[in-house]
Amino acid sequence: MIPFNKPFLTGKETQYIEQAVKSGKISGNGIFTQKCHEFFQERYGFKKCLLTTSCTDALEMSAILCDIQPGDEVIVPSFTFVSTANAFVLRGAKIIFADSREDHPGIDESKIESLITSRTKVIVPVHYAGIACDMDIIMDIANRHNLLVVEDAAQAVDSFYKGKPLGGIGHLGCFSFHETKNVQSGEGGMLVINDEQFSKRAEIIWEKGTNRSEFFRGEVDKYGWVDIGSSFLPSEVSAAFLFAQLENLDTIQNRRKLIWETYYDGLKSCDEKRIIKLPFVPEYATQNGHLFYIVFSNLGERTEMISKLKKDRIDSVFHYLSLHSSPYYSSRHDSRDLINADLFSNNLLRLPLFYELSNKHLEFIIRKINKHLQEI
Ligand SMILES: Cc1ncc(COP(=O)(O)O)c(C=O)c1O
Repeated sequence: MIPFNKPFLTGKETQYIEQAVKSGKISGNGIFTQKCHEFFQERYGFKKCLLTTSCTDALEMSAILCDIQPGDEVIVPSFTFVSTANAFVLRGAKIIFADSREDHPGIDESKIESLITSRTKVIVPVHYAGIACDMDIIMDIANRHNLLVVEDAAQAVDSFYKGKPLGGIGHLGCFSFHETKNVQSGEGGMLVINDEQFSKRAEIIWEKGTNRSEFFRGEVDKYGWVDIGSSFLPSEVSAAFLFAQLENLDTIQNRRKLIWETYYDGLKSCDEKRIIKLPFVPEYATQNGHLFYIVFSNLGERTEMISKLKKDRIDSVFHYLSLHSSPYYSSRHDSRDLINADLFSNNLLRLPLFYELSNKHLEFIIRKINKHLQEI
């Protein structure tokens, strides 16, 4: 079976983990954590980075930093992972779900303003498939209405909007290093703090509500409980693993982007004949080889393709189920139809994309899909 994903190992992970273990300090915020922070700060110019144990944690830290109070409203696309919304629900927020664009699963920027009320506090754009939302429009809306922007950049490492790195544009940015992501540490994540007003508090929330980071830097002579927080920082074992991946980021990215482009070229004619739709990358955005999807006209066609590919021993998977009609939130949702989110829930299919996918397998998948599409 050609799997949908296979986590890539650079070969240096265990060496760095051994180094971390031998150093005698394997709890969080040690040498490898610092190396990872520096990597992102230097490469992308991020002001401040804090590794977390997941993107979910980075989103939960963001909700605390945005000072979400019960009843505050947060605008989130419906077509996203549960954590994008759940992190804010944990603090008592009411989620106002926005629809996707017609041409892309990302939030429809033109619909955001009509969702704003006096209770709105935050907008959370999700850069689906690592392809940017139109951040100029979103930041302009946020500035005019005095709102905060938390970018869910879970899938968006090394991707850009008008040359600016994703995750570095909103007030806060959240990344995932789960094993399904381009660079990974099994479970892992990072909070990027772009607005300095949040820097000090972010460190405290990260360290269980204490000022331990200041203590370690020698800025205070004892540390204690100064705010709310939790145990958001990963151990050095995870950071060592991640650093081995980061050192190979360019190699990983080049291969993944090439696979993405090969899919695109190999399936283009079916898009031209309007049998399926291929990903749309606006001129202001880049693709980062995170995931390749195709969109069918209806659920039946997608289901048929999944089962035909399974017979060819190719694993393909759909993605999010619209959150506005989820068992947990549907009774809380304000009954607006979100047509595009539902269309992407029903009709989008993701194809295998991982570093070690061979050219032979890639060509086999493209050939099979083209063949099956002729039968639709
Ligand atoms: C858009 C989005 N946000 C958040 C997450 C959560 O990431 P993590 O598994 O690192 O908590 C995911 C997971 O894939 C995601 O796709």
